[in-house]
Amino acid sequence: MSSSTINKSEIANPELAAQGKKRIEWAERSMPVLAQIRDRFTLEQPFKGVRISACMHVTTETANLMRTLAAGGAELALCASNPLSTQDDTAAALVHEYGISVFAKNAIDRDGYYRHINAALDIAPHFVFDDGCDLVNTLHTTRRELLPTILGGCEETTTGVIRLTQMSRDGALTFPMVAVNDTDTKHMFDNRYGTGQSTFDAIFRATNTLVAGKIVVVAGFGYCGRGVAERAKGLGAEVVITEIDPTKALDAMMQGYRVMTMHEAARIGDIFITVTGNRDVLRAEHFERMKDNAIMANSGHFDIEIDVAWLEKHGRKNSKIRHQTDEYVLQDGRRLLLLAEGRLVNLGAAEGHPAAVMDLSFADQALTAEWLVHEAKNLKPGVHEVPTEIDKEVAALKLKSMGGEVDQLTPEQELYLNSWEHGS
Ligand code: ADE
Repeated sequence: MSSSTINKSEIANPELAAQGKKRIEWAERSMPVLAQIRDRFTLEQPFKGVRISACMHVTTETANLMRTLAAGGAELALCASNPLSTQDDTAAALVHEYGISVFAKNAIDRDGYYRHINAALDIAPHFVFDDGCDLVNTLHTTRRELLPTILGGCEETTTGVIRLTQMSRDGALTFPMVAVNDTDTKHMFDNRYGTGQSTFDAIFRATNTLVAGKIVVVAGFGYCGRGVAERAKGLGAEVVITEIDPTKALDAMMQGYRVMTMHEAARIGDIFITVTGNRDVLRAEHFERMKDNAIMANSGHFDIEIDVAWLEKHGRKNSKIRHQTDEYVLQDGRRLLLLAEGRLVNLGAAEGHPAAVMDLSFADQALTAEWLVHEAKNLKPGVHEVPTEIDKEVAALKLKSMGGEVDQLTPEQELYLNSWEHGS
């Protein structure tokens, strides 16, 4: 790679590049939809002359998205959307094997994290990709001089879409952002099967605990919570759901889970997993009731769901008793175990969602970015949906890649569905 490209990066260790490339190619094997899109982009060059800044988890799956955008002609700068999820070998390979600017180091502190976001923005992007809204937030607070040239962007996750919607409601968002999270092919699969599997992958790597026979308390029954609950049930746990929404709570009950308040659940749970998107879901009043050796993990986007500050203040900390496992000994001798410092556990203590499911999310991202190149000028500032055709195309390609087929409507069925005259 040319030294000018390499110079515009900040990564931990360039010597990890060869290992990173192997792992990126391994992920690629499970991302056939993205590979097809990359082949087309290589020919059609939809991003020629387009600059994109991306703030995403620096994983092998994201690397394949970056390769796809680069193959389509984009100039890219990638920074991390979470300090713990950065895979240093992936970052090294992106820079030294694929010539993509990366600003990311695993476990970087808060200042470094924002320095990297700013560095990724220094290319003066036309489009942005965000995962949690930190990059868009930085643009609208400290980098406002870049706003006039920004045409639009994509947001990957539920939390980010919620923040963007609030910005839009307050008239603060100055360009169109597309809620990729809200496509069926994203949240029905990534949030559910991805979060479900990778959360337990992380809990196993961190603790090697047996789940069978345990009581697993899942806070939040959105798509992520559903996925976590399903996997816990499949592993032989008794699953308890806590919710604030009666409809979701009812759904959980009818799926056979026990539903109760966290106050009650705190007393009986062995493993607690927060996936609500809200703060202080596990706090003093719960810690005070928990059993000795209770495990706590957060799979929500930000590290706000478990009140770690309380644990730090009131517990004696034994750091890293295992990989990404800290122990807090409370005054009465009970030991509470916190995984990945209360940060997104699946990316902090494991590798995030498997590539096969990220294939869907990142195919959505790639096709939405291509669509935005043409359509952004017609969109008002605010939060927009991904066109249904993109969602359906991604579903069809993935289904085909997995060997599934759908039926076609007969002409009579087509007519029936499009008419109102026919009764029973
Ligand atoms: N979010 C969840 N899992 C991920 C992964 N493997 N790569 C990028 N972002 C993710």
